[in-house]
Amino acid sequence: MMLPNLATIARIDAYLAHHVPASPCLIVDLETVRQRYRALRDALPQTRVYYAVKANPAAPVIAALAAEGANFDLASAGEIARCLDLGIAPDRFCFGNTIKPETTIAAAHAQGIGLYAFDCEAELDKIASAAPGQRVFCRIAVHGGKADWPLSRKFGCAPAIASDLLLQARAKGLRPIGVSFHVGSQQTDPEAWTHAIAHAATVFRTCAGQGLALELLNLGGGLPAQYRTPIPTLDQYIQTIEKALRTQFGTTQPELMIEPGRHLTGDAGLLRSTVLLISQHDSRRWVYLDAGRYNGLAETQNEAIHYPIRTPGRAGPAEPVVLAGPTCDSTDIIYDRTPTPLPLDLQIGDTVDFLTAGAYTASYASVEFNGFPPLQTHCI
Ligand SMILES: Cc1ncc(COP(=O)(O)O)c(C=O)c1O
Repeated sequence: MMLPNLATIARIDAYLAHHVPASPCLIVDLETVRQRYRALRDALPQTRVYYAVKANPAAPVIAALAAEGANFDLASAGEIARCLDLGIAPDRFCFGNTIKPETTIAAAHAQGIGLYAFDCEAELDKIASAAPGQRVFCRIAVHGGKADWPLSRKFGCAPAIASDLLLQARAKGLRPIGVSFHVGSQQTDPEAWTHAIAHAATVFRTCAGQGLALELLNLGGGLPAQYRTPIPTLDQYIQTIEKALRTQFGTTQPELMIEPGRHLTGDAGLLRSTVLLISQHDSRRWVYLDAGRYNGLAETQNEAIHYPIRTPGRAGPAEPVVLAGPTCDSTDIIYDRTPTPLPLDLQIGDTVDFLTAGAYTASYASVEFNGFPPLQTHCI
């Protein structure tokens, strides 16, 4: 199996040679997070990068990115509080969730946050009353295409009604400044941005025709991490995005922002687990771990995300297994259909490592399903 991020893994291995954190746990290499941020900032120098905190909200991750100059895309009062507690100025925040309690909008406004997302009139009403006069952008729905973790359907208005909503925002006393989209998380097709940017540009033109000059285009999240299958390079994504911007906006380019989550933190993490049980069921070998769907591996739902796996110290011949978590829930199966060969000499008590596990793992773990504690994160 292909092992990504060799330098990252080497640093994490050096740490694990001297530390034995309780299993299961997530180890995050902050140097990788910083490198991913710098590479993206250098590739898109005119674009403001807002880290989507939901991907990995560990305080050292946020602090490392803040020190690099990042801005932050926040989804809730909890994420806002965490960033404020770290001393980050609220003019670096975007409240990007389109589904916000009005009380939280009011608190965010009082705390100095001035940029909000919406995708329907009812949300606009809340923002207009709780954060009057503030800047808003409209999220349009775009096709998820080849996203391994699609975010379509639940979010975004039809592009055809976005201009109406933005004009309503102005009528309600807000400052409508632009358009956002999300092409789906772990988007493996750069062309997804081509289509989304074309839809956004149409909204810009329609608004301009109605006397409303938009200025901001939010390119959303979706940039991938390196799991088992090869992905296009960052350069291929950037070239595709820049070509679409040139085609659609010509010489009048909008201000740009981008909200990467997975791309900045996914490759930086390793989730370490321990084998609790190996048994034979239905003529298949089942391997049960102390990590599963409810304490870190939520994105294996529908076997969507395929983490590279390694078994330190066991390198003998391997055969496919069903890999499952520790809880008393039959949905707590990690991989059944996804080919997962593990060494035949694997034993109870052995270590199983999930690579590229820095995003959407610890933040997705349940509080205490079956009494198991949430996944602990150790940043190095
Ligand atoms: C509004 C918003 N922006 C950005 C992101 C980050 O997406 P990704 O991790 O795919 O980059 C998300 C993820 O759910 C999101 O909801």
